Amino acid sequence: MDKIATRRLPATMRQLRVFDAVARHSGFSRAAAELHLSQPTVSMQVKLLSEAVGLPLFEQVGKRIFLTDAGRMLQATSAEMFDAWGRLEMQVSDLKGLKRGRLRISAVTTAKYVVPRLLGSFCRIHPGVEVAFEIGNRSAIIERLVRNEDDLTVMGVPPRGMDIVSHPFAENPLVIVAPRGHALARSRRVPLSKLVGQPFLMREQGSGTRLAADRFLRDRGVRLDVKMEIGSNEAIKEAVAGGLGLSILSLHALGPDPGRSLVVLKVEGLPIRRHWYIVHPAGKRLSVVAQAFFAHLKTEGGHSKFAALAGLPQHGGTVQRA
Ligand code: PGA
Repeated sequence: MDKIATRRLPATMRQLRVFDAVARHSGFSRAAAELHLSQPTVSMQVKLLSEAVGLPLFEQVGKRIFLTDAGRMLQATSAEMFDAWGRLEMQVSDLKGLKRGRLRISAVTTAKYVVPRLLGSFCRIHPGVEVAFEIGNRSAIIERLVRNEDDLTVMGVPPRGMDIVSHPFAENPLVIVAPRGHALARSRRVPLSKLVGQPFLMREQGSGTRLAADRFLRDRGVRLDVKMEIGSNEAIKEAVAGGLGLSILSLHALGPDPGRSLVVLKVEGLPIRRHWYIVHPAGKRLSVVAQAFFAHLKTEGGHSKFAALAGLPQHGGTVQRA
């Protein structure tokens, strides 16, 4: 038994490649030319393979050669083996990629409350991955996207008119915040009209938060009294807590314990329901690491800790398209 197995197993991938070329070209010399081998070498490899199989693989009719039945069976089997080998090569290179890959991520300002935690859980699974994480305002991040500087970009309002691919991966609701003790803080239902005349501190023009808030208000014909524009969520929270006015912010920006100094008002039509998007230029070939992070965002983004709406009082909030 052993003896037969040893005698019948010497077929190698190299011999199968040679056989495949001869079968495709129906000739030894063209196969030899394709493989940069001499014709006697090709003939010898086919002879050895035929001995390993135990039957002739080709038959000669006049000057032409044809596959025998055994040859056709071997051709089908070797095609499956090449496929399987190709898949193995891809999986191995994926493993290598994830072991010591590099991931370049950029994100808009407010995404800093969401992305680092997702990067943290990703890096725990793939400790060899090196991460470069860039945060900037929306226009700086769009510039990076145009120059294709990152593997992936996270933003709340993907730019219109750009050839990009964008996938929502987590909720990103906007709420109206007031200082604790504000006159409207105890109200169970604040009509939007009640906010007119209240001083508002808004994110700067061009920020995703501002864009979404402006669209929401414009659609409802509401004009707020914008007292101040501030380019930082943290500074806005301090200013609201200090009694300078109300603001519209991402619920993520409030952190786990906004209750000490801030309250979320129960305003009609809010929260403004939106999403975080993962974005990249259309046609970009994502690296193995980037594909893995993409998949990670889609799985983790839906988990309860990022489902920011959980537990928040809702008053028929609308879904705002980015
Ligand atoms: P921003 O973007 O930090 O630029 O406001 C956040 C968002 O779009 O929600």
